[in-house]
Amino acid sequence: EDTVVVAVDGPAGSGKSSVSKAVARKLGYAYLDTGAAYRAFAWHAQRAGVELEEQASVVSALPSFELDEATDPDHFFVRVGGTDVTDAIREPAVTGVVSLVARVPDVRAALTAIFRRIASETAAPGIVIEGRDITTVVAPDARVRVLLTASEEVRMGRRSAELTGYSPEAVGEQLKARDRADSRVVDFMTAADGVTTVDSTELNFDETVDAVIAVIQSRS
Ligand code: C5P
Repeated sequence: EDTVVVAVDGPAGSGKSSVSKAVARKLGYAYLDTGAAYRAFAWHAQRAGVELEEQASVVSALPSFELDEATDPDHFFVRVGGTDVTDAIREPAVTGVVSLVARVPDVRAALTAIFRRIASETAAPGIVIEGRDITTVVAPDARVRVLLTASEEVRMGRRSAELTGYSPEAVGEQLKARDRADSRVVDFMTAADGVTTVDSTELNFDETVDAVIAVIQSRS
């Protein structure tokens, strides 16, 4: 039996992580959060003391990067060299620098190889892989490819509701700055050929999950 690959891309705050996780849970699929891997590498590079603005310096942290990321949507964790960084990678200190490491081509190539290996080792029935370049670079041949979008206003509102303790303005500014930096490297705002757009602006969480599942079912 084939393992169905579901590729989900979208901007920050589109809800793609929580939606992808819920879809995986409902279908009994594995779940791979590729943003968490980029965050884990940013955490590692910072710790290794690299010059984050210098691409060659960032690349020097790759050989010592040991990533262990769970693909079970019910027991999610991320470890780097044995250290649990599941919570640390959500801190603004990491979120603020992740785009600097994600723009480095050698970093993208190394992480893409890791994601493809994890997907190829995943047993049936399937895996939901979520990120920015999954439908276009990591898994362009995936059976199901979805671009999850939402208006900027809705995305900023959802993200600031998640991050209690930070002002909505600060959250909004960081989100916009990150989208701007990220979109110079990967186009995750327009659907590539064959990619189905799910716009969640007018949908609640459950409706969005159902819309993605409907796309998956239409491809089976
Ligand atoms: O999805 P999340 O907000 O956790 O992603 C964190 C960062 O990782 C993004 O801002 C982007 O810089 C990077 N990323 C990427 N390609 C992916 C997933 C994430 O460049 N496939």
